[in-house]
Amino acid sequence: MNCARWIAAAAFLATAPVFAQSDAFPFGDPKLGKKVLQEKCSACHVARFGGDGSGIFTRANRKVSSKQSLLAWVQRCNANTRIGLNGEEEESVAAYLSEAYYKFK
Ligand code: HEC
Repeated sequence: MNCARWIAAAAFLATAPVFAQSDAFPFGDPKLGKKVLQEKCSACHVARFGGDGSGIFTRANRKVSSKQSLLAWVQRCNANTRIGLNGEEEESVAAYLSEAYYKFK
């Protein structure tokens, strides 16, 4: 991790205690996650689910059921599609999805 990223991660952690997901995704930055999701992931979800693609995260029979399975699904889609997110980006996408859609306690 380079210096700037470390500072960004430290700043995130310092401001994050109110969000429980800081434990599950210690290197996740929801802002970065939103950007990564929109740029690299959403097109395919949009093609299948319409709208902005977020229907996949809010459908009644959605697959993700916990923070752990959320990160596992992000990693699975990333690996299956060979999009090539690094670990920090995976955690960031998971942190964003958790905050915006899944809202696990
Ligand atoms: C080539 C198409 C495609 C791409 C690209 C893709 N996904 Fe998916 N994704 C899917 C499909 C299809 C499903 C639903 C799988 C199912 O229902 O079994 C899915 C499901 C998911 C789920 C679970 C949703 C639920 O049901 O709770 C998550 C989270 C997810 N994708 C994240 C990502 C992320 C993050 C990326 C980018 C790294 C990504 N996906 C890229 C096709 C794609």
